[in-house]
Amino acid sequence: MKVLTVVGARPQFIKAAAVSRELRRRHEEVLVHTGQHYDEEMSDVFFEELAIPEPDENLGVGSSSHGAQTAEMLAGLEERIERVEPDAVLVYGDTNSTLAAAIAASKMDTRLAHVEAGLRSYNREMPEEINRVLTDHAADDLFAPSRRAVANLREESVAGAVHETGDVMCDAVCWARDRAVDRSEILTELGVESGEYVLATVHRASNTDDPDRLAAILDALAAEVREVVLPAHPRTINRMREYAMLDDAREKLTLVDPVGYLDFVRLQDCADVVATDSGGVQKEAFFLDTPCVTMREETEWRETVEAGWNELVGANKAAIRRALADADPPGEKPQPYGDGDAAARITDLLDDD
Ligand code: UD1
Ligand code: UDP
Repeated sequence: MKVLTVVGARPQFIKAAAVSRELRRRHEEVLVHTGQHYDEEMSDVFFEELAIPEPDENLGVGSSSHGAQTAEMLAGLEERIERVEPDAVLVYGDTNSTLAAAIAASKMDTRLAHVEAGLRSYNREMPEEINRVLTDHAADDLFAPSRRAVANLREESVAGAVHETGDVMCDAVCWARDRAVDRSEILTELGVESGEYVLATVHRASNTDDPDRLAAILDALAAEVREVVLPAHPRTINRMREYAMLDDAREKLTLVDPVGYLDFVRLQDCADVVATDSGGVQKEAFFLDTPCVTMREETEWRETVEAGWNELVGANKAAIRRALADADPPGEKPQPYGDGDAAARITDLLDDD
């Protein structure tokens, strides 16, 4: 069969790489990049190191308002679906690229398959929450990473077929962990010792676009006694500059450009603790046995919190500081997201239509 995969943002390159490796053994895949992320370190680096082919096409959409960006992608994707005539359109996660592809496929009456279906934060102010709910309701095949995601979809009575597949990010980390040990020099490059630093990421709109929240997060990180490595998303750098927080952050933190996947996995693996508002990073820290402090009020990945490996602290300076100091997960860990064979399951399920 012919599958048209749509990606556009950093986490989607990583997820699609895991599935693509399996999918291309049995099927033809046409990979379309919307261009939502376009900086070398937000896009190209992943195609170079994750052993996936370059996109067949890049729509070059770039950054703009949500509506304009989604509309431009929708028009471009409709044209590609018409030309490629795929048997299925495969989408990942909850970005504007996901939603645009979901609408394009359903308008073209093409089978739509959604990887990472059924995730819910129940925070309707998050653009991602709207994207994932709409995509799930348009999808024909819903590949859910956990039992809870399946239950969420059943509760909403989605029309498509729901399958529990495990999480493709578990596959991604399994692929990358040992390779990162062999190939990444990032600890030496940054001059940090394993187990002696905090790794942080911040990019969620609710944190970056609110100066009070961003200040609280940066102040909490700056107060850390351990070194804090912050590979900063361009959105965060832009806001820090706008709010005149950048110089101070450069002085107090190890603020670096976003790093490639193997380097980032290595940094997560060796961190004493991770502080983040990223969805993917919460899970990767969990897979890599690194405790996580999540600077949000809620999470789609509740299993990591229930297991005692992740704590939700919002953007509260005192709560972040306390959680970073006290992080002490239990030794035992459940496996709510499968065991690293989600990509094979998804490929099997795409086969039986
Ligand atoms: C998007 C997703 C978010 C996901 C994140 C992954 C939506 C609504 N949000 O957020 O769910 O967690 O990607 O990283 O789809 N920029 C650059 N260079 C780039 C990309 C972005 O400079 O290569 C800057 C631009 O100023 C842009 C801003 O970052 O306006 C935000 O980018 P955008 O893709 O709109 O949203 P993200 O915050 O990256
Ligand atoms: N990541 C990376 N380099 C970085 C920061 C993150 O490779 O400098 C990877 C990380 O390992 C994870 C993914 O990017 O797989 C998470 O993406 P992001 O936090 O941008 O988005 P989210 O998961 O929140 O949608």
